[in-house]
Amino acid sequence: MDTLTATPTIEPGAKADRPVAVYCKGITKTYGSGQSAVRALRGVDVDVRTGELMMLVGPSGCGKTTLISIIAGVLDRDEGECTVLGKDFKVLGPSGTTQFRATNVGFVFQAFNLIPTLTLAENVAVPLLINRVRRADAIEQACEMLKKVGLGDRTKDIPTRLSGGQQQRVAISRALVHKPKLLVCDEPTSALDHVTGQKVMELLRSVAAGNDLSLVVVTHDARIFEFADRIAEMDDGRIVSMTTGKGHQHSSFDASHAK
Ligand SMILES: Nc1ncnc2c1ncn2[C@@H]1O[C@H](COP(=O)(O)OP(=O)(O)OP(=O)(O)O)[C@@H](O)[C@H]1O
Ligand SMILES: [Mg+2]
Repeated sequence: MDTLTATPTIEPGAKADRPVAVYCKGITKTYGSGQSAVRALRGVDVDVRTGELMMLVGPSGCGKTTLISIIAGVLDRDEGECTVLGKDFKVLGPSGTTQFRATNVGFVFQAFNLIPTLTLAENVAVPLLINRVRRADAIEQACEMLKKVGLGDRTKDIPTRLSGGQQQRVAISRALVHKPKLLVCDEPTSALDHVTGQKVMELLRSVAAGNDLSLVVVTHDARIFEFADRIAEMDDGRIVSMTTGKGHQHSSFDASHAK
């Protein structure tokens, strides 16, 4: 991919006929003001289709985390249009956005962000409890989800006794347990070895397949590009190219293989 290209090469991708899940046009974001201002996003245009896995790549500091934070509704944009599942967070307002996020959006952080004093089941149950699901039901659903990621026998364990890959699977379970329509992942495989990283991606694809789940995955990890439907390359606050990946070839993966 040529990072110097000013005009993005837009390829429609295999899911171009699916409904738009995320629509961004001319998004800008500046942190701070005056001499210390950092223009993190300088006009981002991008859309993510329903059921699509889009990867977001680019050098450190180019604005990837900023963009997915805006898409996930955890950060306000300055200018531009952004709708997620047809909703504009500026119109929804802070409490409407929080509610929308709790129902529709999952976020996987690079550093897992598991709560060390809670069991795995309790960690995974958190989004359900936020959505006022009864505790017993929430724990049951959390255990079901953990079973799907191959951790059904560890539900009462605590996060610090797990490997990095296992913790990442717990974090993914937590992000998926409330069946969001949009899942945003910030470098989900960067802390993992090659085999575990592949398994995490296979797991994400398998959950997404058939669920109409749209995925935006930030990554530096070229080894997982093969899982993308499309790859958006960012540089200096803009999308500079968009290429088609081979993601659809992985859609039939069986989650029971993710051990
Ligand atoms: N809270 C903040 N306050 C001030 N500047 C920030 C803040 N968050 C990010 N920035 C700056 O905005 C720019 C984009 O940051 P961002 O975190 O989106 O980059 P990134 O592409 O995710 O980088 P990395 O690959 O290192 O995670 C960087 O120059 C960064 O220093
Ligand atoms: Mg980042």
